[in-house]
Amino acid sequence: MSSPSAPHSLESLEYTPEIARETAHIFERMRGVVPEVEWPVHAPYIHRIEELKRERNAVVLAHNYQTPEIFYGVSDFRGDSLGLAQEGARTDAEVIVLCGVHFMAETAKILSPEKTVLIPDLRAGCSLAESITGDDVRRLREQYPDAPVVTYVNTSADVKAESDICCTSSNAVQVVESLGVDRVIFLPDEYLAKYVATQTEVEIIEWQGRCEVHERFTPEEVRGYRDAAPDLVVLAHPECPPEVLAEADYVGSTSGMAQYVQERQPANVAMITECSMSDNVAAENPGVNFIRPCNLCPHMKRITLPRILRSLERLEHPVEVDPVMAERARSAVERMLAVGRGSGG
Ligand code: 13P
Ligand code: SF4
Repeated sequence: MSSPSAPHSLESLEYTPEIARETAHIFERMRGVVPEVEWPVHAPYIHRIEELKRERNAVVLAHNYQTPEIFYGVSDFRGDSLGLAQEGARTDAEVIVLCGVHFMAETAKILSPEKTVLIPDLRAGCSLAESITGDDVRRLREQYPDAPVVTYVNTSADVKAESDICCTSSNAVQVVESLGVDRVIFLPDEYLAKYVATQTEVEIIEWQGRCEVHERFTPEEVRGYRDAAPDLVVLAHPECPPEVLAEADYVGSTSGMAQYVQERQPANVAMITECSMSDNVAAENPGVNFIRPCNLCPHMKRITLPRILRSLERLEHPVEVDPVMAERARSAVERMLAVGRGSGG
């Protein structure tokens, strides 16, 4: 790895005519969702981050919930949890900066232990990952010894290490059915478990974890949006409560929802999921009108351009996973990757 040039301070960087010229094409990717007046604040960070990525042989992976200036400004790969895991396994960069939450960075580290995996803010957690521990999984196994454990990637390495196979929202049904058994323990999202149970004959034993963002949506709210636009197409993430999913026209992962809009170009759409998702999809679909419910994930929003810059300058915060735990967790993640992406896409 080549040594990086001298660190910049975290105080705001200067917007020079050279930076304006060299970043003008980047702004075009987010025109319409990032106000032009904000560009002089973002552009110097984007410019410097791009330089440091080259110096560090680093790649930036961004989840669909990142804000547009990160998503379109500095990421080399954008996607849902499954896409980020696949890309983390595939990249030959020496450094991965994960713009998402901690379990996503941990999954990248599990798949690429030899790489430096950075999370720009260690506080970027997840209410689902915090809802369960490895001890909880061991107790469940004692209770249901015949049932394999299917674990959502929104969990710690400790929990993955106790699991038979992982899944994401885009392949949960396919993963459950790939096991060829009558019942499974499905962790930790109660609502995703309930949704999977509606899509398969396999009996699902659930855990009581919830996403603090998606559990807040209500069916009344969705009906209110429909009243405002009768031709509205409602897309919902399967972490939403069942009554909310019952109001939706399509249920799928974040990338599944983006693909739906890209392919079908509905006149009016509401994405019942985290706030930045609509901005990011709107940037690429100017002909679609977005009704934007705005529930923010406070963890995703810990990641900012200044923190990404600092992360690359100081190689902060490297994610470490105990090698023995990582080995066990890796087999559950790799088993999922072998199943691939399901119809929830
Ligand atoms: P996706 O796998 O659909 O991107 O979901 C990740 C997530 O954290 C949803 O809240
Ligand atoms: Fe976790 Fe929910 Fe945030 Fe996704 S949106 S990272 S599931 S808290």
